[in-house]
Amino acid sequence: MRLSLTQAIQRLLAEEVLAIPTETVYGLAASLSSEKSIDQVFALKKRPLTNPLIIHTASCEQIFPLIQSLPKGFEELSEAFWPGPLTLILPIQEEKILPRVRANLPTAAFRIPSLKLTRELLQATGPLIAPSANLSGTPSSTSPEHVERDFGADFPVLDGGKAEHGLESTILAFKEGEWRLARLGAIPAEAFLLCLGYMPKPYKGSENAPLCPGQHFRHYAPKARLHLESDFSQASLVLGFSDRSYPVRSISLGSSNDPEEAAKRLYDALRQLDLDQEREVWVDMDFPDTGLWASIRERLLRASEAG
Ligand code: TXA
Ligand code: MG
Repeated sequence: MRLSLTQAIQRLLAEEVLAIPTETVYGLAASLSSEKSIDQVFALKKRPLTNPLIIHTASCEQIFPLIQSLPKGFEELSEAFWPGPLTLILPIQEEKILPRVRANLPTAAFRIPSLKLTRELLQATGPLIAPSANLSGTPSSTSPEHVERDFGADFPVLDGGKAEHGLESTILAFKEGEWRLARLGAIPAEAFLLCLGYMPKPYKGSENAPLCPGQHFRHYAPKARLHLESDFSQASLVLGFSDRSYPVRSISLGSSNDPEEAAKRLYDALRQLDLDQEREVWVDMDFPDTGLWASIRERLLRASEAG
């Protein structure tokens, strides 16, 4: 069921759950203060309670009352990348944010989306939590149709069209005096060099010290088995590029010179495999390990891990 902006605002203020568009992927939104609807988000997604959520706001002014301090570099990062597909993990005032939002951590994830419709919504509703609008572990939703496939044709969706980036936000966390990459995403790591003076390194937690408890869950995976290899001699179906030829049938992510397009199409292609009831696909991994390609590679690796 597609909602108008006014209907979406009314429903969120009435503590209901609905899907909202953002420039990265669609989110399953609930008011930050509504325990009841936040519980419903976890239940709808079948999301483990140990996997914390991202808080979405219209401005920094909606964030400041919730946090404890601003790590060095916050101002530069927020000025350069907000509104936009960047999420920052910040130390919070624990009494201000329900423990279930942040899996009981003393930190929380924040982002200011750039999609105009979403920002108008957030101006009116105040902060919203919004995990990606997909069943936990499966590919994220990049269109209202994806949301409706996961949650039913009657599920309320604010329609913002196809997501501009098609990949989740990049997440940075401040650890031991510097920002670390907690999740690759729509902003490539190289993009932070200018504003921070260094390229954030990946946060390498251990089983005993993950950045957050939910980090090790299976993610982004279709039912089909993904073979990540560039030898297609055994292949029956290839996930590849339009400017390359393959010995068998293929699904295209666009040109091998266009990472933005590949990112935008990735989840739709992974979802298509399930719609077509494909059981196996061979992925053409012959692309660079830098920039946005690195984020695409990481999603494919995670999607290929056995559940
Ligand atoms: O682009 C996006 O970020 C989308 C759109 C809807 O905004 N949202 C999204 O949310 O991808 P979700 O719930 O699928 O992923 C949020 C991730 C969690 O899996 C967790 O790894 C991380 O954010 N996270 C949240 N709070 C954290 C915290 N306090 N410390 C470390 N990681 C945290
Ligand atoms: Mg997700």
